[in-house]
Amino acid sequence: MKKCWVLGIETSCDETAAAVVENGDRLCSNVISSQMQIHRRFGGVVPEVASRRHVEQITVILQQALDEAGVRQEELSAIAVTQGPGLVGALLIGVAAAKALSFATGVPLVGVHHIAGHIYANHLVKPLRFPLVALVVSGGHTELIHMPEHNRFERLGRTRDDAAGEAYDKVARVLGLPYPGGPEIDRLAKQGTPVIDFPRAWLEPGSLDFSFSGLKSAVINYLHNAEQRGERVAKADLAASFQEAVVEVLTEKAVRAARNKGVHNLVLAGGVSANSALRGSLAARCQREGIHLSSPPLELCTDNAAMIAAAGTYRFLDGERAGLELNAEPNLKLV
Ligand code: KG4
Ligand code: ZN
Repeated sequence: MKKCWVLGIETSCDETAAAVVENGDRLCSNVISSQMQIHRRFGGVVPEVASRRHVEQITVILQQALDEAGVRQEELSAIAVTQGPGLVGALLIGVAAAKALSFATGVPLVGVHHIAGHIYANHLVKPLRFPLVALVVSGGHTELIHMPEHNRFERLGRTRDDAAGEAYDKVARVLGLPYPGGPEIDRLAKQGTPVIDFPRAWLEPGSLDFSFSGLKSAVINYLHNAEQRGERVAKADLAASFQEAVVEVLTEKAVRAARNKGVHNLVLAGGVSANSALRGSLAARCQREGIHLSSPPLELCTDNAAMIAAAGTYRFLDGERAGLELNAEPNLKLV
């Protein structure tokens, strides 16, 4: 059988990434140039700085991904690129590179939704089992997605304000921890006890939407009040309490979504899926409920191009083709 090699390109935020995936599920190369150190001193991603760095890195990273895979440009079956959502200036660099390569080689071009990519990160370890419900938790998104089969997405719930990762990053910032704050809080929480009863936003009965801005404000108020009273705050306990509030709601709603849909496969995806408490809580709960849980390996949780190549492969096999008019869509909708 002829091999299907797909080159993935991802530049939606602060990672310049390229990867080659064979037949949709075998990783041949996965190159990531992270800008984390550059943005760290600003306490968050600076869009203009990110775009400039992508321009400097993209051709080098693309070549490296092909070299490491041992695949020549003209041997590719398709070029899959993150079309959105994300920072428009950052997305544009990947989209322009993908279009240029497609034009020069005649290799077909496929646009990929970033969230679809995060879900397909799991497929690189074990084939996705359908129908499934995916809990997508990242710096920009918190969504529950139902997938009856490849390439078909139905949104069941989403955050009404902050994304889970955004809440982690903001709380970390007020605690004086470096960016990105998620892994820092995860680490700190392990040394603490969840003694503070922060609010859980369950919203209306039956709702599968999320809200994290109230929790974020409650943490900030707690810190300010303690400061005004001249009390010392046990930061590890605060981190553990905040994390417990986030994880409890995410776990409960993900399992509820699967039950509502009568689905026995739950997939965790996005940067926050690296969180140890969330992984542990979902694993325990799914075992009790008889639900099969897929969690991506840590190196595929945060942004990478392998996941874009994997998702792109199934779009390509479905007959999807993008023309050279393909444009970056900062607010691209999955459904
Ligand atoms: O998926 P991703 O790399 O980028 C987006 O598409 O947004 O996710 C990045 C987010 C950041 O908010 C970061 O703080 C969070 O994932 N994150 C974590 C952990 N590792 C990364 N949050 C909680 N616990 C972690 N261990
Ligand atoms: Zn992401």
